[in-house]
Amino acid sequence: MSRIRSRAGTAVLTALALTGAACVGTAAALPADSGTAAAACTVDYKVQNQWGSGFTTAVTVTNNGAAVNSWNLTWSYAGDQKVTNGWNADLSQSGAAVTAKNASYNGALATGASASFGFNATYSGSNALPASFKLNGVTCNEDTDPTDPTDPTDPTDPTEPGDRVDNPYAGAKVYVNPEWSAKAKAEPGGSRIANQPTGVWLDRIAAINGVGDGMGLRDHLDAALAQKGSSEQVVQLVVYNLPGRDCAALASNGELGPTEIDKYKTDYINPIAAILAEPKYAGLRIVTTIEIDSLPNLITNVSGRPTATPNCDVMKANGNYQKGVAYALDKLGDIGNVYNYIDAGHHGWLGWDDNFGASAEMFKTTASGNGAKLSDVHGFIVNTANYSALKENNFAIGDSVAGKSVRESKWVDWNRYTDELSYAQAMRTKLVSLGFDQNLGMLIDTSRNGWGGAARPAGPGATTDVDTYVNGGRYDRRIHLGNWCNQSGAGLGERPQANPATGIDAYVWMKPPGESDGSSKAIDNDEGKGFDRMCDPTYTGNPRNNNNMSGALPDAPVSGHWFSAQFQELMKNAYPAL
Ligand code: BGC
Repeated sequence: MSRIRSRAGTAVLTALALTGAACVGTAAALPADSGTAAAACTVDYKVQNQWGSGFTTAVTVTNNGAAVNSWNLTWSYAGDQKVTNGWNADLSQSGAAVTAKNASYNGALATGASASFGFNATYSGSNALPASFKLNGVTCNEDTDPTDPTDPTDPTDPTEPGDRVDNPYAGAKVYVNPEWSAKAKAEPGGSRIANQPTGVWLDRIAAINGVGDGMGLRDHLDAALAQKGSSEQVVQLVVYNLPGRDCAALASNGELGPTEIDKYKTDYINPIAAILAEPKYAGLRIVTTIEIDSLPNLITNVSGRPTATPNCDVMKANGNYQKGVAYALDKLGDIGNVYNYIDAGHHGWLGWDDNFGASAEMFKTTASGNGAKLSDVHGFIVNTANYSALKENNFAIGDSVAGKSVRESKWVDWNRYTDELSYAQAMRTKLVSLGFDQNLGMLIDTSRNGWGGAARPAGPGATTDVDTYVNGGRYDRRIHLGNWCNQSGAGLGERPQANPATGIDAYVWMKPPGESDGSSKAIDNDEGKGFDRMCDPTYTGNPRNNNNMSGALPDAPVSGHWFSAQFQELMKNAYPAL
């Protein structure tokens, strides 16, 4: 997973090509040696279209060296890619090595001039980007003077974002939010986890400059730079302020009404993007988690479904969730060191056949309309602020007991997945099949899905019948999979870590442990937060949790506020134990 992503690589190569051209255009005004600092040539290699067995690529090569009358561009493939036909160049291939020679009409390339060509090819397995290119034998996209700060290809240049890497978490430290850390440390026993990284939630416009005396976005980024030292450093931000937010619930309704999409763009996303693009932050790897719980609601909680809510119908009809998410992806995706991860619910929400494919399609249409491109998406996050177990070891979806499949048990209820890891990996495969980057990375929020403590089953349940088997073995002790508010019995899950499993960029604690999901009774507030009875321990439920008790802890404050009893419960039931 340390390889450069093809999509990210494309973005970077494009930037190089464009900046290279601009540099050349102004070369006369620059000091004499500036021209020699740029790469001798830059190549923008873009996979424009890809299906199961083939792909189409557009290539633009820019000559930054002395003028030439003819050229050949060479590269090799790591996989079994085979060029079948091309245009605007004469392409040939021997084994993995490809040579593109100029056509009769585009051989002359003055300094700064570009030629473009394209081709179709076949492949199987993965279609990794070529690692390097040579123009007339000279390596392209390579810094010829690493000390020159005006050189856009210089990785140490503070004014240019670094190369996006395949997995931003690999080999990097992750930002410890001092505000959360202080609250954790103030709790008895809290210092055991106070140095863990957690997400910084930009949950309202005021959060950008800091609510009250709190830290604003720049404060967090400055603190992240201070933590960085000479390592790579990830900062995890949660972008969470859509118009008509949280349409299927009330606990996290926000400040913007359903129609306030313009305000979302100008007063929320634009200022965030402006700060993230500041040159001093170019050395940070900024992970953005885009709009929790929004797009899936447009699939599962709209008319035609037993779980429909009027507010989700409104948001579906006005399109403002899709427009907002697309705008965020587009603006933030323009910043070379930002890694966008879209929220993809969790298995206990989207793991049913009716929801799974339709949600993946919704992610695709959203990320390829209203100015967004699939290449603006680095990955997806699952289980954000939820409690679904990472891995249920005591039963599997394919098991049968007393003539019944696990899928028929009350707990699984025909879901396709039993846990988050299998769901995340399957969702990833589905998204790639729809055209998202084949190196897409997933994040799993493990902040509260540990389910350890005394109630954790030591082995599979008895095989008398399928419900006894599943209920006796499952780690997730919720009353119903649809329960989501301040769950009693939950524990901290896997500690944040990079590259924990195939296709997974990291386990993260995006929801800061100890911050409430919603108040147990109505509490006045100026944050737009409502009272959702799913947070009331006496509530007997609704169709979304199949009319079960809510399983919520009592005496909880408004969502996002510190909830000491929950923090203690999470530590007590941590798995792995603290
Ligand atoms: C709340 C946010 C809060 C976040 C993290 C959400 O449920 O609505 O205000 O920042 O949780 O705790």
